[in-house]
Amino acid sequence: MTRRYLVTAALPYANNKPHLGHVAGVYLPADIYVRFLRMTGNDVVFVCGSDDHGVPITISAEKEGCEPQEVVSRYRAAQEEGFTSLGIEFDIYSGTSTCPGHGDLSSEFFLTNLEKGNIEARDTMQFYCQACRRFLPDRYVEGICPLCQAPDARGDQCDSCGKGFEQTLLTEPRCVGCGETPETRNTRQWFFLLDRFEDALREWLESREGWRENVKNFALGLLREGLPPRSITRDLSWGVPVPLEEADGKVLYVWFDAPVGYISFTRELFEKRGDPEGWRPYWQDEETSLVHFLGKDNILFHAVIWPAMLLGRGDFNLPANIPANEFLNFKGEKFSKSKGHGVTAEEILALYSPDRVRYYLTAIAPENRDTSFTWEDFIARNNDDLSDVVGNLCHRVFVFTDRYFDSKVPAGGERSEHLARILEVIAGARDSWRTSLEACRIREAVGAVVSLAREGNRIFDAAQPWKSRKEDAEGCGTDIASLLELVRAVALLLTPFLPESGKLLRGAFPDGDGLKSDLDALGERTLAGGDPIAPPGIVFPRLELAED
Ligand code: MF3
Ligand code: ZN
Repeated sequence: MTRRYLVTAALPYANNKPHLGHVAGVYLPADIYVRFLRMTGNDVVFVCGSDDHGVPITISAEKEGCEPQEVVSRYRAAQEEGFTSLGIEFDIYSGTSTCPGHGDLSSEFFLTNLEKGNIEARDTMQFYCQACRRFLPDRYVEGICPLCQAPDARGDQCDSCGKGFEQTLLTEPRCVGCGETPETRNTRQWFFLLDRFEDALREWLESREGWRENVKNFALGLLREGLPPRSITRDLSWGVPVPLEEADGKVLYVWFDAPVGYISFTRELFEKRGDPEGWRPYWQDEETSLVHFLGKDNILFHAVIWPAMLLGRGDFNLPANIPANEFLNFKGEKFSKSKGHGVTAEEILALYSPDRVRYYLTAIAPENRDTSFTWEDFIARNNDDLSDVVGNLCHRVFVFTDRYFDSKVPAGGERSEHLARILEVIAGARDSWRTSLEACRIREAVGAVVSLAREGNRIFDAAQPWKSRKEDAEGCGTDIASLLELVRAVALLLTPFLPESGKLLRGAFPDGDGLKSDLDALGERTLAGGDPIAPPGIVFPRLELAED
């Protein structure tokens, strides 16, 4: 059955280039999932762009001595290029500060919820730095987490326990700009009354099926503790202005406007396609599945606050799934752009091809636990799996076909029991591949393809075609014909993970009827005796460790 999907990848802050930690946890799994959905005949729109507002950007601008908009345009271009260079292809890569209509839609989210009584103004105490003469929203202040006592919690959220809290609860606060201890001052802010959504959120979350346990449990755990009101405005000049006269000089909190970007970017996409109403079914038809890919530090916002914003509006779909991943570490430590620890897409692509990077990041995808990138392991996984298993199988089957069957599929099929067994193996691999990908388990899915290739090598070894070709030419032909079916299946199933190599390998075979029909046909004979085979040469040569 084909369906409609709107798939998003968390909008990266426009102040850094994507490093492999982000790619492995969010953008690559999303891209693979989208490619899979499309291959299986679904209608998908894949949306991303930069998260331009908020304190992360103004802090970068201050450090670099320029305007926020300058930081944004520089990094946005670099981000888009980084993703594209890895074959991560969004339908639109926009940005929250430039997308037409984004500010208006964010304001509408604010105003509708205000009218419905879901938002209310309150006088608050906030940190104010006398030396810097300003309020210190969010990351402008750091201190000890009031909940888990981690030493460097930020004003908006603690990375150690993943929870959010009011900033004045921080212990030993300090101004990030000058290091001074800030004072507290009165300022009026608008609060989103999340407790009004507790029952609806609980009911919705509990009825979700097929979600990752960590995501569901984290969100339900927050609900159990009760959801305090959250301030959704800030004393800042960079952002979407709060659409109220009395809120002069205040902007919407970046986490209030950013997820709205998923919708405004979709609208922009259809505007560009000359179909301005075309975005609606993707967000408003209940048959559409909305799927958000993100890192585990974003679960709170996507599984609780954003759904509450959507419930408050009442005219958009709620997420159908939120596959949140753990983190990919670099040599056992967190990737960190500020500490220059880790690898960027640009750095690794100067040395190795995109598919090699995609393979490794899929094979070690941090789905259930944090995993670690090392260069030695990068080489080993590529050589052990792609060169020695997949590449080896393709190579030996193609070479044999070329040498002894004149580059044509051998006629045969007489030893049909044997062929039938191989076709069953192929169909089985396709089915587990499909089940894993439907559940966004890309690591398991690519494992099924490598296992299929491993099985192919075993079949080749057992068939001993170099011998049987002299003793039982017809049987040998059937074996090679079956192995060609298997190689073709491997090529097809590898495609969402390794689009370039998949295409190259598929090119060895006669044109199919399109990816979906080719997939559906796996498990039947798809090649006929005499069909020409055009081997692509060595697709996965062994890699060497580059000198540091
Ligand atoms: N910029 C945020 C981060 O990097 C993610 C924003 S996702 C969105 O953590 F939903 F708000 F867009
Ligand atoms: Zn200060």
